[in-house]
Amino acid sequence: MGMNYEKINEWILAEDCFEPAWLGKCEAVMAQGNGYLGLRAAAEERYVGETRNLLINGTFNKFDADEVTELPNAADVTAIELWIDGQRFNLVEGSHEGYRRELNIKTGELIRTVHWTAPNGKKVKIIFQRIVSLKRLHDIGLKITVEAEGNPIKLKIRSGIDARVSNTGSQHFSEVEKRFYDKKYLQFVERTTQSKIDFVLNAVHSFEKNGKQVLLGTDVNIERRYLYADYNVELEAEETFVIEKLVNVQTTRDFDAAGLNTDELQKKSLEDLKALENIGYDDLMEESALEWQKEIWDNAPVMIKGDKESEFDLFALRYAQYQMRIFLPKHDNRMNIGAKGLSGEGYRGHCFWDTEIFLLPYYMFTDPDAARKLEEYRYLSLPGAHRKAKENGYKGAMFPWESAWLDDGETCPLYMDVDIVTGKPIKVWSGIIEQHISADVAFGAWQYGIITGDTDFMEKYGYELIMDTAIFWGSRLEPGDDGRYHINDVVGPDEYHEHVNDNAFTNYMAAWNLGKAIEYYEMLKNDKPELFACLNQKLNLDENYLIWKDSVERIFLPQPTEEGILPMDDRFMKGQYIDLTKYKQQDFVGGIMKDYNLDQIQNIQVCKQADCLVLFYLMEERFSPEVKRASWDYYVERTLHDSSLSLSTHSVQAADMGDDEMAYDLFRKAATIDLGPYMGTSNAGIHAASFGGVWQCVVYGFGGVRMLNGKLRINPRLPKNWDELTFTLYWKGEKLSVTVTKDKVDVQNQTGNRKVDLSVNGEELKV
Ligand code: BGC
Repeated sequence: MGMNYEKINEWILAEDCFEPAWLGKCEAVMAQGNGYLGLRAAAEERYVGETRNLLINGTFNKFDADEVTELPNAADVTAIELWIDGQRFNLVEGSHEGYRRELNIKTGELIRTVHWTAPNGKKVKIIFQRIVSLKRLHDIGLKITVEAEGNPIKLKIRSGIDARVSNTGSQHFSEVEKRFYDKKYLQFVERTTQSKIDFVLNAVHSFEKNGKQVLLGTDVNIERRYLYADYNVELEAEETFVIEKLVNVQTTRDFDAAGLNTDELQKKSLEDLKALENIGYDDLMEESALEWQKEIWDNAPVMIKGDKESEFDLFALRYAQYQMRIFLPKHDNRMNIGAKGLSGEGYRGHCFWDTEIFLLPYYMFTDPDAARKLEEYRYLSLPGAHRKAKENGYKGAMFPWESAWLDDGETCPLYMDVDIVTGKPIKVWSGIIEQHISADVAFGAWQYGIITGDTDFMEKYGYELIMDTAIFWGSRLEPGDDGRYHINDVVGPDEYHEHVNDNAFTNYMAAWNLGKAIEYYEMLKNDKPELFACLNQKLNLDENYLIWKDSVERIFLPQPTEEGILPMDDRFMKGQYIDLTKYKQQDFVGGIMKDYNLDQIQNIQVCKQADCLVLFYLMEERFSPEVKRASWDYYVERTLHDSSLSLSTHSVQAADMGDDEMAYDLFRKAATIDLGPYMGTSNAGIHAASFGGVWQCVVYGFGGVRMLNGKLRINPRLPKNWDELTFTLYWKGEKLSVTVTKDKVDVQNQTGNRKVDLSVNGEELKV
């Protein structure tokens, strides 16, 4: 498909030809970040069709009353235009050779190299380097080396801070101030229109000719939403010239607690920039690479040994780790993870059940502190969950399907896309009736508490989250004529079917949530009377306990058919069966929507994504192998994997069933959602949850790791072409290193504070 970026080695994701049609792909998959900020890998020179994004986590703004809040696209700092003897450097004009762009996931550095011949015949070699510091959350570095190849050149450089960007047209900022200090330091202040967050961006340039620092005259320009400087220099043949641009970005949201005002922030950030100037690009890069080494590669190393194919598998796993760090807001529990991370405007920076069900396992097992922050976010966003419950006539905590800032409540847009048949906007029902999210949040808190052994979290937040969501379910159940409680009119994980009754995933998860609340009520009452009294007063537990008991006994739980298939809701199996081959073969998702509208799809047996299968995976022991197998056979044929969340769930399930080849095939598909050959699928940003999915395929699927009944279980099954798999697991404060070969499982306790009980292939062990 004209794409050559697949050349991957252990640590490098590389693109070795420039293809203007595929700009979006590389901008997203080569994005950099540190959880505070995300920077798309748009080139320094501008191209038609590019998307330049600098997103700062948690800085949500609502453009107008008809739009939902979203992460605003901050002023661009990466555009640096170069002219060689009057001709603007860009790869669409002139000719070029030796093009290569590499993202080094080990160090986090992005490097692009090219030899360019301008239309006027002048030749240059240019190397672009870029880093987002993992150590200094506000800092970005850019470095450009220009070599005059065999001819003298006149080089002109234009670089600045450019706020003429938007979120696909929605302008989230008003200008506050733009200044040059000492004709050297650029400062741009912009304010979000509704949330009134001030962003202060600073930049400074420095230059070197043939290895020696030089000062260039600065031609300062201040235009509407744009602050920049022009610099000119002449180079003899073979001379090299280096441009360094160091940037920092800070917002008043960072200093909510300290109460810094904009003036103070302007001063502070400028001082910080001067300190950064003294560090320089190379040291900033070095320091950040060390941080990557310490935080990720030394802390949670992975290794896959096997045949040639397995080299890609190892890369994909490490790339997933890279991604899961660049969008992780480890620094602030008021933020979570957007479905596209910080690599694009898709899903507007909102977080979903993706966090608890797909991403949390990786963080719980490799970075428990970070996992705790993500769960604290849910606790801190309870006010919005309470409001949503009230607005819908329920009690307790009804978590938003899409969540942004803490008190925003539901942020799912009401309308999106257009109906192919009627031409009218399609209503998004998920924000109103995709309700399993409340149980998913409770499930996340519970899992986190068990796996990490963090009782402090459970006492401060976890028990309350589980009970508050159980209160919601208690008020949500509807009595039916059959004497059972039903959950009618919902959307389950399979979003192609709306207004269904008794979605299996939703009902089983609600029942689990109610059951856990009962268990914790009884445990706290006996073992922690003070905490119990406090929660009882806050949540009226005594009264709710009776409701939960009654609910759990009478909630309707869909049962398998005679063939052993678990019906995903009351309607799906009665739908029309159609041949889905066409849609399964398409190189894009959602193709069925081009032929049928949602009303028609309601009556067709087609799943967007795993539904019952997620349940089998979360509640492994609740369903028999026969039910899992029969349901798998039935649903897999009817599933399009039109959500990136689907493939990994299928892969883990296949591995659990011993279907090794299928598990591996699905893992490879999951691993290539962003890294694969389909060039249009990442334009709006990478698929954050799919990276959690890749890790789950490897560690849960092939590694056979699961938390079952509060205990760690490891039942590995390596793919045919792997000889060895190594990964790290934190379990209740102990750090375990697990190495699996075809005939051996080696578990080392690297902390050794306490013995860890675990079961390996059915054998009970202590490590
Ligand atoms: C999926 C949801 C998912 C969301 C964000 C949707 O397409 O159907 O399950 O939470 O994307 O990733």
